[in-house]
Amino acid sequence: MIDKALECFKDMFGSDGDIRCYFAPGRVNLIGEHTDYNGGHVFPCALTMGNYGVARKRDDRMLRWYNMTYPHEGVQEKSLDELVPNDNGLWYDYQHGVLWAMQKAGIEIPFGYDMVMIADLPAGSGLSASASIEELAAVIVRDLNELPISMVDCARFGQISENDYNGSNTGIMDQFASAMGKKDHAIFLDTADLSYEYVPLNLKDEKIIVTNSRVKHNLTENSYNSYNTRRKESEEALADLRKILDIDSLGELDEETFDSNCMSIQSEVCRKRARHAVYENRRTIRAVTALQNGDLEAFGKLMIDSHVSLRDDYAVSCEEVDILVDEALKLPGVIGSRITGGGFGGCTVSIVKNESVDRFTGDLGRIYRERTGIEAEFYITDAGDGAGRIR
Ligand code: GLA
Repeated sequence: MIDKALECFKDMFGSDGDIRCYFAPGRVNLIGEHTDYNGGHVFPCALTMGNYGVARKRDDRMLRWYNMTYPHEGVQEKSLDELVPNDNGLWYDYQHGVLWAMQKAGIEIPFGYDMVMIADLPAGSGLSASASIEELAAVIVRDLNELPISMVDCARFGQISENDYNGSNTGIMDQFASAMGKKDHAIFLDTADLSYEYVPLNLKDEKIIVTNSRVKHNLTENSYNSYNTRRKESEEALADLRKILDIDSLGELDEETFDSNCMSIQSEVCRKRARHAVYENRRTIRAVTALQNGDLEAFGKLMIDSHVSLRDDYAVSCEEVDILVDEALKLPGVIGSRITGGGFGGCTVSIVKNESVDRFTGDLGRIYRERTGIEAEFYITDAGDGAGRIR
């Protein structure tokens, strides 16, 4: 991948000077969905798929970028002084937003850069392609300009780009996973205070399989309206609960406290959304303990409960993804399966015994094709390192 981008960079921008190579991964979330903007826990890992960038610092403030995935768009040119929030949701908008967020926070970025990028991560499928390109921009500009910011800051600026430059009101999970990922580990992150712990995955007899339904959520239209709606519904539920409970987020509640106070939430829909947020957060904490105790069966059961709750209470699944999960659970050697990411299409994540992997991809692919007419894609994934310079 990176060699292709390097070759393209040299053709396009010349081969002289200090040319550097970077990578920023996508992520898969194992459990803890729609909890990150509710002050709860998440448990994602960085993928080994993501976006690669080749870049060289300029001696002016121009940004000249080319994305090999979208050759027809040509070189995108913009000055660091003319970045303006918009709702186009294009690859360079997510990246411009990061530089805009840094400058808004008072970080001086003296020089722009030329860049060529290339991806091996499908966009719009719930694997955080947008966070991956945000973190790519963050690590490139940080390295080339020697900015005094941490990788957690990079995650924060990615989220600000997403929220305030691109208008989707997401939490910080995706950017955090892309920035802070660690090979063979998942990240147990408490989004209430950004404290985190790396948990070894240690899967010797099982594989993590991501299945792409290839039903795409569109980042700027319906799904993000729906995503933003879910967030508003959670906030409305919290506001009602705060009339009788002294809490700052749904993540502070356990199931019992929620159940005995939930009738103070006026709208039934908001009550269901909040129930998901509370129960999912607790499930995530229990799932991590189960994994640490080597009890993968218990982890898998919690993944299944998570899917049911996302389908019924949070209403972010869809027919095709439900088919993938239901059919996966009928196959031998499947320990757990659930929708992953923001939802409204996208991917499932499943834990499958090594000896059942071929059957899983073969049978599930066939059944899904028969039932939907769509060819699913399978990625047998490893947890990878977070964003950074690779050469
Ligand atoms: C998207 C958002 C994340 C998170 C997930 C759902 O991926 O970017 O912040 O809310 O959806 O868990």
